[in-house]
This record gives sequence, C-alpha cells and structure tokens, in this order.
Amino acid sequence: MLKVAIIGTGSISGAHIGAYLQFGSRCEIVAVADIYVEKAQEVINRYGLSARAVKDYKELLDEDIDLVSVCTPPYTHAPIAIDFLQAGKHVLVEKPMASSLEECDLMNAAARASGKILSVVAQNRFKTPLMKLKSILDADLIGPVVHAQVDSFWWRGHSYYDLWWRGTWEKEGGGCTLNHAVHHIDALLWMMGQPSELLAVMSNVSHDNAEVEDLSVAILRYPNGALAQITSSVVHHGEEQQLIFQGAKARVSAPWQVTASNAQPNGFPVPNTQLADEIMARYDSLPEVRYEGHAGQVDNILTAIETGAPVLIDGESGRRTLELIIGIYKAASLGQNVRFPIGPEDPFYTREGIQANAIHFYEKTGSVENFQSSKITMGSDYKA
Ligand SMILES: NC(=O)c1ccc[n+]([C@@H]2O[C@H](COP(=O)([O-])OP(=O)(O)OC[C@H]3O[C@@H](n4cnc5c(N)ncnc54)[C@H](O)[C@@H]3O)[C@@H](O)[C@H]2O)c1
Repeated sequence: MLKVAIIGTGSISGAHIGAYLQFGSRCEIVAVADIYVEKAQEVINRYGLSARAVKDYKELLDEDIDLVSVCTPPYTHAPIAIDFLQAGKHVLVEKPMASSLEECDLMNAAARASGKILSVVAQNRFKTPLMKLKSILDADLIGPVVHAQVDSFWWRGHSYYDLWWRGTWEKEGGGCTLNHAVHHIDALLWMMGQPSELLAVMSNVSHDNAEVEDLSVAILRYPNGALAQITSSVVHHGEEQQLIFQGAKARVSAPWQVTASNAQPNGFPVPNTQLADEIMARYDSLPEVRYEGHAGQVDNILTAIETGAPVLIDGESGRRTLELIIGIYKAASLGQNVRFPIGPEDPFYTREGIQANAIHFYEKTGSVENFQSSKITMGSDYKA
C-alpha cells in the first residue's frame, strides 16, 4: 500500500484526491499540507481521509511517504518537488512543471540523483480522443504532417486574476500560454515533436488587473518545413478547443474528424473516401482509455512505482513543454524569431530573467486570499 501526501488543497487538489481514492486498494492518503492549514483540515473532513493536516510541508519530509502530489501555485513547484525528491519520495507535480527552465533542470537533476520518479500532470493525454489521435498519427496513415492548428481557447473573467498568486510573472510565471495552453502544447509536442524555431505575438485584451498575457499567437517551424500555429487564450467564449493535423494525405483532429483528398488531373480535390474510411476504421478499433484524466495519470504513476515501468509524462517531457512556452514569451517580448534549444546562457532561462525581460501589461490590482467557491472546469473532453 503506497502512502501519499497532497501538498496544496485548492481547486485542483480534489482531482488528485478523487483519483487516489479510486485506487484505494493500492494507495492511501496519509498527509495533507496547506499554508492555510484549515483548508487542509477541511479537505480531510470532506473526503473522510485518515490523514493528518500540516501547515508546513517540510514537516512531511522525514515521514513514511512514498508519493507526493504537488498542487500548489507554479512558483512553488520547484522547491517543493526538489525537497521531496531529495527526501526519497516520488513526485507528481501539477502543470506547469515550473516557471523557468532553470527550475526544470534542477528538478530533473534531483530526480536523477535520487532515482525517484518525477511526473508532470498532463491529464489530457489520458483522454480517449487524444490517445486515439496519437495512435493514428504514429501509424503514419495521414502521411507527413505539413500543418498543425492548436486552438487553446479558454475563457476566464476579470476576477480570475484577483487570486493572490495569479496574474504576475513572479508567482504565476505567465498567463494563458503557460497555464492554460500548457495542456495543448504538451499534446502538440507529444504528437508532432519539437519545432526548430518560432515567432509569436501576445497581448492582454481583457484583464487589466494582470501583468501577464491573456492572448498569444505563435507560429512554429519544424526541421522538415512543416508549420504549426498555436493560439493561447482566456478570452474565447465557448472554449472550443481543438488540435487539427493536416497530413500530406489526410486531415485528422481532436475532437475526432477525418477528411482525405485526392487530386483531379487539374489539381482540384475530390474526396478520398477509401483512405478516410480506412483511417476511421482504425480509429474505431482503438481501445478506450481505461481511466480518464487525473485518474489515468495517477494510475500511470502508481503503476510506475509498483512495476518499474516508465511514466508517460516525465520531467524531461515537462521541460520540453516549458521550453516551447518560454520560447513564445521570448519571441513575443523581444520581437525576435526564437531558435531552440534555449540554454542556460539565455536571458529567458531563469525566473529573474523572464521577469526582467517579458512584457508587463498591467499592474496586478486585486488580491483575494481564497475564492468562496473552489469549483473549476478543466477544458474540453474532445468528444465530437
Ligand atoms: N491540471 C489542470 O487541469 C489544472 C487545473 C487547475 C489548476 N492547475 C494547477 O494546479 C496548481 C494549483 O492551482 P489551483 O487552481 O488549485 O490553485 P489554488 O490557489 O486554488 O490552490 C493552491 C493551494 O496551494 C496552497 N499553497 C500555496 N503555497 C503553498 C505552499 N508553499 N505549501 C503548501 N500549500 C501551499 C494555497 O494555500 C492553496 O490552497 C497550479 O499549478 C495550477 O496551474 C491544474
């Protein structure tokens, strides 16, 4: 029976606790930490946990704990994850992995030194439409991808950025590109790999209480000439999130849709129903994901601890996602094309460097300690 601790008991902690409770024969939550210790106690009462509440997570470093879920604001992810890895615990850290590449590198070094698992939350990978789409792309049925369109469309009201840690480069680490599009950027990299360069613009059109962007558009170039575009937004009503891949032979997407064209002698398209039907049949034959979202990711790390299998999303994967996001911030802030990789000599490598160089749109005005309701939504289920 693996012993689990939850660090941070705000909005997202319920997704972790619910997932661990689903696997009650494999693990038990023994400790819960929050700087507002009454929130930790309230969570223990709400879920009926046999766990103890602590205010300072450091009290748990020497405890008999196997795995820690880090559910705190981004600027705290690196120090908390590193402390637990050095104390010999496995760590599942919420997205974004951290707020700088320097922190990611320190986290990965701590994981390597301790031999413990570091996994970064990307729960969308454990959703059937994305898992199936990845399989279709891997099967190479659509030919080389020539263009990808990533619409990371979300909507958040003005008060969203009043929460004390949101809306600043220092504590949130960025805006919608970092904290919302991170899900879709992870999926893009998983499916299409790393681009060689990008250009980007960003803006803040609706949240004059935040330093960070609420809208960005990036264009990526791949080594083979393929292009991808990512729109990151918290100003899109309806939150119509999608990933579309145009291959040389066919188009596939999440939410699922397949279309294929053949050329007439004059180059104009006619439907290639044979290929579209073949891809559709393959899609339909693929299995459903057994555990969706956070439950899938928790099952994945429990299995890794139990069997030694690798996790689907490790710290290197989390770092690659952050590198692309930091690339967008650099390109948009300096008005330059950015080439990868971004290394330690780059001004955008450290948190201080980002704070000094990224565009500050507005001063953060409000600062609410906790919202009354912790009810949140977590984006699309990608069902057609
Ligand atoms: N995977 C997803 O879909 C998803 C959705 C929402 C949030 N998140 C991520 O989860 C993290 C937390 O977001 P949230 O919306 O739950 O925020 P939140 O503010 O609701 O909760 C964070 C909690 O952490 C506590 N905390 C802060 N510093 C701490 C520390 N040093 N030690 C212990 N507790 C501390 C706060 O008091 C708060 O209760 C962020 O990284 C966010 O990006 C992920």
